[in-house]
Amino acid sequence: MRQILLLLTAMLLSCCSANSELMAEVTSDSGKTLVVYYSYTGNCREIVNTLTSQIQADVLEIQPAEKGLKYEANGYALGTELLNAIKAHPSDASSYPAIDPVTTSPSNYQNIIIVTPLWWSQMAAIMQTYLFNYGPQMAGKHVGLIVSSHSSGISGVIRDAERLLPDVTWMGDALWINASSHARRATLVADWLETLEFAKEQTLNKMHITIDGQTQSVTLTPNVATKALVEKLQQSPITMTLASSGGFEIWGALGFSLPTSNQQTTAQPGDVVLYNGSNICLFYGSNSWSYTRLGKIDGLTESELRTFLKAGESHINVTLSLTAGTTAIDGQTQRKADEEKYYTLNGQHADNPTKGVFIMNGKKVIL
Ligand SMILES: Cc1cc2nc3c(=O)[nH]c(=O)nc-3n(C[C@H](O)[C@H](O)[C@H](O)COP(=O)(O)O)c2cc1C
Repeated sequence: MRQILLLLTAMLLSCCSANSELMAEVTSDSGKTLVVYYSYTGNCREIVNTLTSQIQADVLEIQPAEKGLKYEANGYALGTELLNAIKAHPSDASSYPAIDPVTTSPSNYQNIIIVTPLWWSQMAAIMQTYLFNYGPQMAGKHVGLIVSSHSSGISGVIRDAERLLPDVTWMGDALWINASSHARRATLVADWLETLEFAKEQTLNKMHITIDGQTQSVTLTPNVATKALVEKLQQSPITMTLASSGGFEIWGALGFSLPTSNQQTTAQPGDVVLYNGSNICLFYGSNSWSYTRLGKIDGLTESELRTFLKAGESHINVTLSLTAGTTAIDGQTQRKADEEKYYTLNGQHADNPTKGVFIMNGKKVIL
């Protein structure tokens, strides 16, 4: 009898452990997101920090195997040489600069977002190596692309991505962030995410605040107050006038009441709270009081918050909404537009070039 019981227990245990392995496999593959980036001078890293303050994702940084190289030295000679080698033999693995070994496998993810710099109107060589090596593991995955350049358009980078990842499902249009829009990356990323099917679930917990034409996303705290607020915003955006107070917030009447769950709270810069059930406070500093948390403004530093919230002013028009305008770049339109543009060797757009060496459609042109 004892032996039969032991046998039954062993069978039960092995059956449970097989099931839990199966569960782990299923959950690890159901909608997880990986952000893969390369950054030489730090801009793509900042974009990734902004992106991951808005969505749940694992992050993988690609590093060149050879450290300390100056890709921009001697008129960008090394960067150009690496790209030319790839261009000459794009199917040959030895054309691609070596990268450090990568342990995270893209096959464990359903969604992959690639964040890459533009080099000479093409995808930075280091990221091309990663996609050449690991692209096959992304077949059938949903892939998004964010490109950072000084000013050049990104159609060449989109072409490289399509060549290196022929079997993926693109999430939507690529997002272009250049030197003049880099400071507005939180809004650009939030707007771009809204256009993507995969992020819809993740962005349901967002609202937007617009002040003087600038829009920032807010991650909402899940509670009865935000549930009621979202229901209001589903009917229409809400506009109100707020005023600076105490050197730490702008605040004022919402024009209606929300259900409260007040708690003694030390609000921090970026926090959005409900005060006395019918007032909203947006913090650029800190204060302790009994509030109901509504959420947090995404991705702004304390000084960026002061500027965005117009700290110190007394009549600040603020609009709350569930959607923000769309600014993502359409690959086809972008392609046509920037194929005809000239850029200087520093990547600056040249309006009416007359004499000198320029880049057009990714090629050097002497006028
Ligand atoms: C080798 C090299 C070539 C570049 N070529 C261009 C270019 O043709 N056009 C442009 O607008 N920016 C160009 N840039 C600038 C980068 O695209 C831009 O600074 C980007 O934000 C860098 O991202 P990172 O800071 O993450 O490396 C180049 C940079 C390097 C290093």
